[in-house]
Amino acid sequence: MDFENLIFKREGNIGILSINRPKALNALNTQVLCELDKAIDMIENDEDIHILIITGEGRAFVAGADIAEMKEMNSKEARQFAKNGLGVFRKIELMEKPVIAAVNGFALGGGCELSMCCDIRIASEKAKFGQPEVGLGIIPGFAGTQRLARLVGMGRAKELIFTSDMIDANEAYRIGLVNKVVPQDELMNEAIALANKILSKGQIAVRFAKTSINRGMETDIETGMAIERDLFGLCFATEDQKEGMGAFLEKRSPNYKLR
Ligand code: CAA
Repeated sequence: MDFENLIFKREGNIGILSINRPKALNALNTQVLCELDKAIDMIENDEDIHILIITGEGRAFVAGADIAEMKEMNSKEARQFAKNGLGVFRKIELMEKPVIAAVNGFALGGGCELSMCCDIRIASEKAKFGQPEVGLGIIPGFAGTQRLARLVGMGRAKELIFTSDMIDANEAYRIGLVNKVVPQDELMNEAIALANKILSKGQIAVRFAKTSINRGMETDIETGMAIERDLFGLCFATEDQKEGMGAFLEKRSPNYKLR
């Protein structure tokens, strides 16, 4: 994969995608969003990649949507820009494979929104989070008003968005925005260790669990339970279920094959 603003690496079955526009603190412009969209399609379709880590090069994860590009947009162009970002982030959220955000620095505006469409967020002690849009005379446009409220509750989301306050990693942990805070130089090792732990489980089951949680959170509990019931049933059509339960009963480690 050859991109101008992204770096892609593999570590076994782990894909590591890094936003690489450090001079602009990895700000998301139309080109970066377009590359991200293509990269996600390739990663989702690559059978050798079972889990994805998203991070940023340099001192930022992503410092937001590109303010220089947005400054001259008219309303129609801004709506299209939001549509692009919303579409890419939704694609990440709905990937079958789990996605971990390794937040290495500023995660502001579109950067906080990018981290929130990932399944799990690990932050370095240097990470900073915020939705500073109202300070620029706009509102979040890549689903910040939606995912932040769902993750940390409406009251905290409104306070963060109305004040534009930047919070550090420990505060982000305290309010439930991130799963874990680690020293900067351990961030990628921690993210990879977490990825490997998830990879040691049945990956079809992990994917079904992701779908069930995501879809269930977006509907009423009856429908959510019906989704869980059907996916639970579907697990029993997989070789992984036979292997997982067989291994338990035979007192050995399972050898999952994603089948
Ligand atoms: N867009 C475009 N360029 C950006 C940027 C952004 N979001 N964030 C940083 N940059 C650029 C700066 O303009 C600067 O470029 P030059 O060297 O060419 O001047 C470079 O990155 C380094 O930034 P600073 O000199 O500002 O670095 P700093 O350490 O003094 O400050 C910062 C760091 C606090 C993150 C500051 O850069 C900042 O406040 N950035 C903007 C954050 C922001 O408001 N993000 C939200 C954008 S709106 C949005 O995202 C809408 C949406 O939901 C879709």
